Amino acid sequence: MSNVENTLSIIKPDAVERNLDSQIKEMFIKNGFDIIKEKKIQIDKIEAEKFYKVHETKPFYNDLCTYLSSGPIVVMVLEKENAILANRELMGSTNPKDAKEGTIRKKFGLSIDKNSVHGSDSLENAKIEIDFFFKS
Ligand code: CMP
Repeated sequence: MSNVENTLSIIKPDAVERNLDSQIKEMFIKNGFDIIKEKKIQIDKIEAEKFYKVHETKPFYNDLCTYLSSGPIVVMVLEKENAILANRELMGSTNPKDAKEGTIRKKFGLSIDKNSVHGSDSLENAKIEIDFFFKS
């Protein structure tokens, strides 16, 4: 039985700044994802705080929100069989130092903060995150 899912992907400011968005999108396409929605935007800190609200108690929350709002980002809806897990595998570990060869974060990530991409971590969060950026 098929289990096609949608997940939210963000190409973060460090990667957009280095003009890596085309290369990262190519990695998604090569790995069988369809990019069904896409836009390049910059959000303000208040919006970043809303987006990362699940992390509001974490010590890195303030820096994380400052960072996500520091420059343009590319937000996308990716579609594929088991997209949420497949995207997490393709991104690699949160900390690029721990990410496996062939993953986006291993290839492009600079640090745990500047780790080039974000991806939804569950079906429930994927729906919330897609609505956050694409609800019309
Ligand atoms: P992301 O997948 O976008 O989700 C939250 C982000 O917080 C994460 O990627 C990291 O870039 C950032 N972050 C910073 N410090 C930490 C930490 N200690 N643990 C997890 N995430 C962190």
